[in-house]
Amino acid sequence: MSTFYITTAIDYINGLPHIGTAYEKITADCIARAKRLLGYDVRFCMGTDEHSINVKKKATDEGLEPQAYCDRMVPLFEEIWKNLHISYDDFIRTTDTRHKVAVTELFRRSMAKGDIYTADYKGWYCEGCEAFIQEKDLVDGKCPNHMKVPSWIEETNYFFRLSKYGEPLLKHIRANPDFIRPETRRNEIVRLIESGLDDISVSRSGFDWGIPVPGDSGHVIYVWFDALTNYISSLGFGGNDDAEFRKYWPADVHIVGKDITRFHCVIWPAMLMSCGVEVPKSVFGHGFIYHSGEKMSKSLGNIVSPLDIVGKFGADPLRYFFLREVVNGQDGDFTFERFIDRYNSDLANDLGNLVSRTVAMIHKYCGGTLPLYTRPSGGRLYEYFLELSKKWKKEIEWYNLSGACQSVMDYVKEANKYIEENAPWNLAKDPKRTGELAGILCDLSTVIVNSARLLYPFIPESSNKIWRAFGYTGDIGDSFIKNEYGVSLQVPVDTYIQNIGPIFPRIESDNVIKMSENINKNKKEEKNYVEADILQFPDFMKVDIRVGTVTAAERVEKSDKLLRLFVDDGMGGRKILAGIAQHYMPEELAGKQVLFVANLKPRRMMGEISEGMVLAAVHGEGLNVIVPDGDVPPGTKVS
Ligand code: MSP
Repeated sequence: MSTFYITTAIDYINGLPHIGTAYEKITADCIARAKRLLGYDVRFCMGTDEHSINVKKKATDEGLEPQAYCDRMVPLFEEIWKNLHISYDDFIRTTDTRHKVAVTELFRRSMAKGDIYTADYKGWYCEGCEAFIQEKDLVDGKCPNHMKVPSWIEETNYFFRLSKYGEPLLKHIRANPDFIRPETRRNEIVRLIESGLDDISVSRSGFDWGIPVPGDSGHVIYVWFDALTNYISSLGFGGNDDAEFRKYWPADVHIVGKDITRFHCVIWPAMLMSCGVEVPKSVFGHGFIYHSGEKMSKSLGNIVSPLDIVGKFGADPLRYFFLREVVNGQDGDFTFERFIDRYNSDLANDLGNLVSRTVAMIHKYCGGTLPLYTRPSGGRLYEYFLELSKKWKKEIEWYNLSGACQSVMDYVKEANKYIEENAPWNLAKDPKRTGELAGILCDLSTVIVNSARLLYPFIPESSNKIWRAFGYTGDIGDSFIKNEYGVSLQVPVDTYIQNIGPIFPRIESDNVIKMSENINKNKKEEKNYVEADILQFPDFMKVDIRVGTVTAAERVEKSDKLLRLFVDDGMGGRKILAGIAQHYMPEELAGKQVLFVANLKPRRMMGEISEGMVLAAVHGEGLNVIVPDGDVPPGTKVS
């Protein structure tokens, strides 16, 4: 049996999934289920990315150790995925021992190859991206993904010789045109590599939340080097039992968002090349889901939780909306209005009506049991199905999920037309035409079970309900026998068809409008706060004010406002440029204690970096630096 290994990105764990992150898992789940139907031995892996700076911060805010925080979050993630019927085979956590073993092994191999060396790093780091960012990529001094000013970092780090892999990567991409999909993403990546790759820092110093660099516990391995390895640690790479690694690697496809495609198409394959491990067969970079045209974010208050929708309508309507509405690879937009329209027109009207009308007629005219009818092979709907199954397979192989879904829904529409054209209610009035009536009901039942099977990757719960109502048992996914794909199923005669009632009751728009109003209300309230310049408590808690002792002070040349203060901050010392030259002589400050903001983004002033801000009371023309009442050890936190 051919294997098929599919993965999604592993999510940062410092916030719960929203419909955007859920979209990715739904897409991958649909592919995994379809491949299982096509007879593949599928392995589908997801997980959580736990060693990020933001996790450490969030845990600290909540008074927890990072590990305890992650242990509390993981079941919440798994619960959400279970509710969306995501059928993963493995859930890897970057804090799992098996993962740490694999990351250490990979780092060691790359070191042994001579691809890792130490050097000083000076530059910007965006904590949202968990990535080093170049000055040229900043927009108005901010990271374009997170619209936040990154932190300035100066530290001795381990570097990976990414620059060495530019040519081998280009060669690989050219020789394997399907390595990066869709084509737009491939072109972006090729341009990126052609513009020249720099070596990248693969460690951070001064952190203890992460996997230590082998042989140097003063550094932890950079979170992306760590996280990317999940795709092989899940298979036991570097451990005692790597049978699954040998069976499933290289992965058939990594499904990831467009924002992180470059990590997967540049850094990850280069790491693997360095370690002598095969690279994945392909990376698919999907688009982003927006909400009413806007990026979802906490600050806008427009985040839609998958549970809000699943709790009210079930998982299938949301899965269907994304898989049918969004062209895989392109961006998509979620609005409650579009969601309800799509549901009512496709699921309630087309599929729901086909099933309920057919079941009702079998009950009304045949007592609920499918009549005996031997149809000569062929017929319009039969021919349609043969074409459909070829098309469906092709679309699935291209991960064109909306195309595959649409082709089945067209078949459903065709069957509804067939009912109108043949008007079984007229045939039922004429006892001489019961044979014809039986044929039509059998044809419709055939369309229904075949559609249920092909729609199973999209709406598994509803498909199974239909499947079982038509006399089949178990889960569609388990019922498939290899090579049966493309064979039109016939519901056996004498099968009792259960009257299951409407599977997709129409959604009344009132319900949805209320949900949408709630989200908009959140958004407005959030905006009001922003307008009123009110600092949210969690934001206030981020400000780290500390006591420092000025060890030396001097004027900054060519500035009549700035003094250069050297401050003992209890953390090795820092330099702060303070705008107090018109109020203090440098010699007045030496030995004085001050309060300063310790976690302010370093700023460039008069050509040099200032690492913080001294607090002062400003009154009219006067200014007094604020000093603690009594001597306090440098570095003491102010709260
Ligand atoms: N932890 C990294 C991935 C490491 S993989 C080795 C990460 N995590 S994330 O939680 O920020 O994002 C998880 C996935 O969700 C990513 O593929 C990301 O692109 C995707 N999405 C995040 N927001 C999204 C939308 N609004 N829409 C669609 N996908 C989105 O990145």
